[in-house]
Amino acid sequence: MRRSCSYSEVESGLWYAFVAKLPMRNRNSPTSTKFSERVTGDGPPEDALGPGAIILRGFAASEETELLSALQHVAARAPFRHMVTPGGFRMSVAMTNCGSLGWVTDRTGYRYAAADPESGLPWPPMPESFLRLATGAAARGGFNGYVPDVCLVNRYEPGAKLSLHQDKDEQDFTQPIVSVSLGIPAVFLFGGLSRADNTQRIRLEHGDVIVWGGPARLRYHGILPLKEGHHPLMGRRRINLTFRKAA
Ligand code: SIN
Ligand code: FE2
Repeated sequence: MRRSCSYSEVESGLWYAFVAKLPMRNRNSPTSTKFSERVTGDGPPEDALGPGAIILRGFAASEETELLSALQHVAARAPFRHMVTPGGFRMSVAMTNCGSLGWVTDRTGYRYAAADPESGLPWPPMPESFLRLATGAAARGGFNGYVPDVCLVNRYEPGAKLSLHQDKDEQDFTQPIVSVSLGIPAVFLFGGLSRADNTQRIRLEHGDVIVWGGPARLRYHGILPLKEGHHPLMGRRRINLTFRKAA
């Protein structure tokens, strides 16, 4: 069992009282007492990602109901679609966006656009619950005052993958990426600043959040092909919410 920590606990300071009792290496996550046992076979502890990057295990789990209901509204207005890369490949991950901009790709390239190219309408606004989660996670990673203007939503089914890439279509690299995993597990590849650098493999589960910024902001990352799985709320799917400050 992983203990999850609600926002009210964080705000009331109960969380800090809990953290104060933990050994230093475990201070990044509400789940870390159990996590240090759990992680042995599954990936590095949350303070092992290097400068500027942090994993918050289970951080989003207590908000799952609100997040998923907000996501349904977003997807009703801007349905998931498989976009095409500039090289002409259909992506295995289905995507949509919310916020004042959305990330899109087609034969002409990658870019941020204010309107959904499928409908011509503005992307749905960023739900309050998304914003609160992203700002809270960024603050835990040391990035205070984070206000993302984009949430790219990635939907994976077994077999879907995301090749190693950098997030570099944004204007302002001082702002971090906040990446939230929901649904069935995935293996996140976290490389260096060059494509050829070694990659760490990090197993991400429902509710886990990674924040990377500062010296880690342009690190290569990707997702290995998803294995078969079943999640009680989401079935055979993984959803990733990737928050960015694009403009
Ligand atoms: C991304 O890099 O946009 C998504 C990463 C993930 O699905 O965890
Ligand atoms: Fe990315």
